[in-house]
Amino acid sequence: MKITMIGTGYVGLVTGTCLAEFGHKITCVDKIEEKIDALKQGKIPIYEPGLDALVNKNVADGRLRFTTNLEESVPSAEAIFIAVGTPTSRRGDGYADLTYIYAAAKEVAQYLDGYTVIIDKSTVPVGTARQVSRIIKDNNPTADFDVASNPEFLREGAAISDFMRPDRVVIGVESPKAEKVIKDIYKPLYLLDTPLISTTIETAELTKYAANAFLAIKISFINEIANVCEKVNADVSDLAKAIGMDGRIGSKFLHPGPGYGGSCFPKDTLALMRIVQEHGESLRTVEAAVEVNAAQKARMVKKIRDMLGGSEAGKTIGVLGLTFKPETDDMRESPAATILPALLEKGAKIRAHDPKGMEEAKSYLPADIEYVQNSYEACEGADAVVLLTEWNQYRALDLKRIKELMKSPIFIDLRNVYDPKNMKQLGFRYTGVGRM
Ligand code: UDX
Repeated sequence: MKITMIGTGYVGLVTGTCLAEFGHKITCVDKIEEKIDALKQGKIPIYEPGLDALVNKNVADGRLRFTTNLEESVPSAEAIFIAVGTPTSRRGDGYADLTYIYAAAKEVAQYLDGYTVIIDKSTVPVGTARQVSRIIKDNNPTADFDVASNPEFLREGAAISDFMRPDRVVIGVESPKAEKVIKDIYKPLYLLDTPLISTTIETAELTKYAANAFLAIKISFINEIANVCEKVNADVSDLAKAIGMDGRIGSKFLHPGPGYGGSCFPKDTLALMRIVQEHGESLRTVEAAVEVNAAQKARMVKKIRDMLGGSEAGKTIGVLGLTFKPETDDMRESPAATILPALLEKGAKIRAHDPKGMEEAKSYLPADIEYVQNSYEACEGADAVVLLTEWNQYRALDLKRIKELMKSPIFIDLRNVYDPKNMKQLGFRYTGVGRM
């Protein structure tokens, strides 16, 4: 099927590439010329494992191409995905900024030719698909089209496997004709018996927010339980394992840490609260999760300060990991961007390492951070080491070497990678999150 993907950000690029891998003919469109030029040369603007190889393969096979020319790519498309950004509004009120979605709808409208299904892939507030439909009608009253919602559930760092082997595909659609087009797009997934949930447009739009909000609540819950564990001498890892084995709870997303970050949870929880408030309701569980998440980051600053004897002034802190999670170079809402400036302000010196995120980190963090080339360099002469992101290469560190390199052997493991007993045996003053 001929498909146009508008937006070559994280979601658009992964979705377009994976759909090409399914065998569809995909044109990815973006307004940013430099980005399209780079993509044409096989340069991928983000780090996502496996994406560069998949892009290059599908480009070489002629199923994937990149252009800035919307006019030329819309008329022949049977389906058009809108996958442009929906950042938190610059007004600072928590609403999602829909400018790019509406601009895309307006532009697409002019070039539609023959029956086309317009599919919202971006995470958008309930009611957006209907607005997209209205905008297209206003701008092209004779256009033959349907609008549908097909939210994405891709995790950064695992986006390709999430797309190729999803838990489910959600389609918000009203016309059977559009439903058939979308089902054809996802046909290759039938072989895997992937559940395909067809529902109303509003349900699909809300499903995405509800899924992310639920996961955010789960993380904030376990973070709070971890904090209680520290007070009562309990171990959150054993506890999480034990409660997670209850099929009703499930073991995933029960890892305590420095708080969730990324491009989705922080933005989507805020946007959901605004949507709900506009309808005269509230979501107090989500409000609490957001508040707990902010508090968790502050708590991590205190944890580090306490381990340094009450003050970080003049102390050198080695930091392992800057991105909001491993296997990405994404720094958006990373706990590092809250925790490290707080330490620097109080006079700490920071030597930081991240396998993929250091370039990106420079525009999110204060300039006085020293970036180093490997984990051991970060530990050299350090008064404490903070493990902030659980990259694989930090999971099997030569701990004896690290201890020798450090000025004082204080290890603050904000991802619970290491075993507390083992660390103490090795001679570290060690703390994790919720473990004794
Ligand atoms: C998330 C959703 O998982 C995905 O379905 C959605 O489409 C986009 O948002 P992503 O933000 O890429 O994906 O990463 P995810 O793996 O969900 O992690 C988000 C944050 O939560 C990270 O900062 C991570 O470190 C944190 N987290 C996750 C925890 O602190 N504990 C956990 O148990 C799980």
